[in-house]
Amino acid sequence: MASKVKPQEQTEVSEAQIAVHWKEEGLYPPSEKFKAQANMRDPHILEKFGLDKFPDCFREYADMLTWFEPYRTVLDTSDAPFWKWFVGGKINASYNCVDRHLAKYGDKAAFIFVPEPEGEADVVIKYQELHTRVNEVAALLRGVGLKTGDRVTFHMPMVPELPITMLACARLGIIHSQVFGGFSGQACGSRIQDSGSRVLITMDSYWRNGTLVDHKANADIAVRTAKELGQDVDRVLVWQRYPGKYSAKTPMVPGRDAFVNDLLKDYKGKKVEPVALPSEGPLFLMYSSGTTGKPKGAQHSIAGYLAYVTATSRWILDIHPEDVYWCMADIGWITGHSYIVYGPLANAGTSVLYEGVPTFPDAGRPWRIAERLGVNIFHTAPTAIRMLRKLGPQEPRKHKYQFKSMTTVGEPIEPEAWRWYYDEVGKREAVITDTWWLTETGGFLCTTVPALHPMKPGSCGPGAPGIHPVIYDETGAEVPKGSGKAGNICIRNPWPGIMQTIWGDRDRYIKTYFAKYNKNPKSKDWRDWPFMCGDGALQAADGYYRILGRIDDVINVAGHRLGTKELESACLTVPEIAEAAVVPVQDELKGRVPEVYVAVKPGVAPSQDVIDRVIKAIEDVIGKIARPKRVYIVPDMPKTRSGKIMRRVLAAISNRRDVGDVTTLANPDVVEQIRTLVQGKDIVATREELPEDIAKFGEVE
Ligand code: WTA
Repeated sequence: MASKVKPQEQTEVSEAQIAVHWKEEGLYPPSEKFKAQANMRDPHILEKFGLDKFPDCFREYADMLTWFEPYRTVLDTSDAPFWKWFVGGKINASYNCVDRHLAKYGDKAAFIFVPEPEGEADVVIKYQELHTRVNEVAALLRGVGLKTGDRVTFHMPMVPELPITMLACARLGIIHSQVFGGFSGQACGSRIQDSGSRVLITMDSYWRNGTLVDHKANADIAVRTAKELGQDVDRVLVWQRYPGKYSAKTPMVPGRDAFVNDLLKDYKGKKVEPVALPSEGPLFLMYSSGTTGKPKGAQHSIAGYLAYVTATSRWILDIHPEDVYWCMADIGWITGHSYIVYGPLANAGTSVLYEGVPTFPDAGRPWRIAERLGVNIFHTAPTAIRMLRKLGPQEPRKHKYQFKSMTTVGEPIEPEAWRWYYDEVGKREAVITDTWWLTETGGFLCTTVPALHPMKPGSCGPGAPGIHPVIYDETGAEVPKGSGKAGNICIRNPWPGIMQTIWGDRDRYIKTYFAKYNKNPKSKDWRDWPFMCGDGALQAADGYYRILGRIDDVINVAGHRLGTKELESACLTVPEIAEAAVVPVQDELKGRVPEVYVAVKPGVAPSQDVIDRVIKAIEDVIGKIARPKRVYIVPDMPKTRSGKIMRRVLAAISNRRDVGDVTTLANPDVVEQIRTLVQGKDIVATREELPEDIAKFGEVE
């Protein structure tokens, strides 16, 4: 009797707990129907991209692009590890995504914009119209004095004006830096400063969950923040969500702010020749969180990046020009740059752009859109899958769409959620690719090639063609496949999509991604420079990788990377706070969410007001996406004798786990006080193992 589990106890085990004990899962083969039409059907593709064929194998990717001048060298390693791809070539990303399709696909939709309000009509932008609009905006950008090499920051929502402005920049070699629209004005301002942008492009408002948000207000905060940090912004260009009408309450600043729609009147019908730019010119910056409080600007190249996202969109997402493809991500993140804009368009695809939240006004929305537009390729993140499953498990059945292929990205997906995606959303016909990659990598690192490899729930698969992962332990020894042991996943070789550097910080680039496993800092041989991704992973005997999550101090909330140090410094902007520590907590829907521990300064009484102001500070400095689940005011932080905060102990408490041996701490008693505060008097902790990313949390310091 004692060993028997009562039925209700069984059902109480959360999915997150099950996830820790993922077993080896069964395999799902792709359907014959999918295989018959797939872009990549060569069973020898991985061998063709073997390390013995490196780097020349990637010529095939470069051949998918149209060049103004051919490149001379595939890979230049002379400034290792700052790789240069396709050196000597001249190219333009805007030309490759727009102009070259006009003859054949001019009359076909490039984007279909779906506004959040369901009564508002879709906006179809055909390649011909896209060409016209990109040219006009490029002329405008030139008109305001921008030129090749300048940086421009965008703080735009999910509207067609965002890719149009990106492509206009790309036409002239202006480096765009889009800051996710949901980030706060302050977060935008610090990124403006880091990139040295003198122009900010934004939109007055946008729809989110049924509300028309006043977004222009953020631009004023952003400009003020940038100025405080030493960067002047001369111009703020404001798109109007409803052209001709101002939908924000915040006044325009004379001399600085202008409506793009007004300025465009002077550029009607203007044409701007796409500039022939060097392959290794920068295309854009994408800021991302890391171990320190300062976000880093991943700098991506024109040719290498574009070749990589073009090829992976074709082979992995299986985009054909005739398909209707919908990636339900935000262009403010790398997924949107690579797989809503550049990759699909370089393939003459039709890319759906949805303004709002997937569950607005209800969990049937995505499937209504899919049915109405005839979407046949669908791409989203585990958080959205979990949410749609929870709110409307039967909804997909009610709609007559049929996907041929689906993608999941951004977080590990639990086998349970995977199976719902497969059975219900994909109706057991669509293939699934679980694509693991990072902002820094430009495109997919590990994924199945959908027509060739069977799927395995919870595993992303082998390396993508030409990507050769390896798992190292702390000493730099290789962790063999099938050993059941986890380690740091690295990529042995460079690939065209890899970032070029961290904007303005070469040292940090080397330190973050290479220093740990590089044995010879002077080496010009790529073999000496494995790229450390920052994730824990293990490799099954069949070669498939399973990603366990970040091993640096980054919390992956609903697929968004948040640096704990950034959250902690936001807390410290509240004058009463003496110390702050942020830890990840398992969450059924979002994967991980932050919980915050703060200690107040002497003489300050703990109060709800202090807690509210900590939450507000986080929302102001970073944005609502970083809102913590709970904030605890503690008497002191658990610390080592050298004074280091033991975040690992706090993470164990927050996740209802046993804290282990704390007797070596400087203040072991405080641990029990904090435990009681968080968990209550009774011992509720389980000895259940924590997921790798949480168990190791706080080790990198
Ligand atoms: C996580 C998003 C498991 C991982 C493209 C990585 C994933 C971080 C997956 C990068 C996946 C991304 N399975 N984990 N399929 N895809 N991740 O820079 O921890 O926003 O390091 O890029 O997301 O997040 P980023």
